[in-house]
Amino acid sequence: MRRMFLLLPLVLGLAGCEVDWQGWAGMKRQPKALPYRENEFFADDRVMRQPPPGTVPRNRRGKEHLFLTGKDGPDGGYVDVIPLTLTLEVLQSGRHSFDIYCAACHGLLGDGASQVARNMGLRTPPSLLDLPPYPNGHYYEVISEGYGLMPAYAEKLSPEQRWAVVAYVRALQASQRARLEEVPPEARPLLQPKEGTP
Ligand code: HEC
Repeated sequence: MRRMFLLLPLVLGLAGCEVDWQGWAGMKRQPKALPYRENEFFADDRVMRQPPPGTVPRNRRGKEHLFLTGKDGPDGGYVDVIPLTLTLEVLQSGRHSFDIYCAACHGLLGDGASQVARNMGLRTPPSLLDLPPYPNGHYYEVISEGYGLMPAYAEKLSPEQRWAVVAYVRALQASQRARLEEVPPEARPLLQPKEGTP
């Protein structure tokens, strides 16, 4: 008997779903436009609308195609350029975005040393310092569209910011392999080990 009392609210609750208090059933039944149906609201009675004449898909903007996709043409492969004038500001902007959006997984140095990497069991974020020789367009695409378990960043970073991140990743890679002779002479003393340090 006690058990039946316990069940009573559940039974009443379930019954409630079927009650239609003159439209109170709510959003389950409401006028809406379904694909391929007729709709008198439009002059041609078609519910599915055509894009306005001259509409251009957002990743097919002629010359901008390369900038927006990292690829050369509609069927072309990745480009190996970075379509920005590389200045210190561009690299600093790339670093800013990288530290916010990438370092959590790939580490501040891009070497894959991060708490997330240590905790991620399925597929750990790789070190970005010893990847195969990918062209720059590939990096741009990975950032824009995501890769495997890695999320996409097209909503967070503008195309310009994404290219700046590519440039900064390149700078991180170079920084790990550069020889002292490649550094301008005036900056070399900064990189020499100080006397007395091991
Ligand atoms: C949530 C963690 C996470 C964040 C944040 C993240 N990544 Fe990744 N990234 C991964 C994982 C995991 C992989 C490997 C995915 C796989 O192989 O399935 C990966 C792979 C990559 C690769 C290698 C792709 C290849 O072709 O081998 C690059 C390059 C890369 N990430 C760059 C970035 C950049 C740049 C950012 C910041 C915009 C970023 N990642 C942010 C987790 C992350």
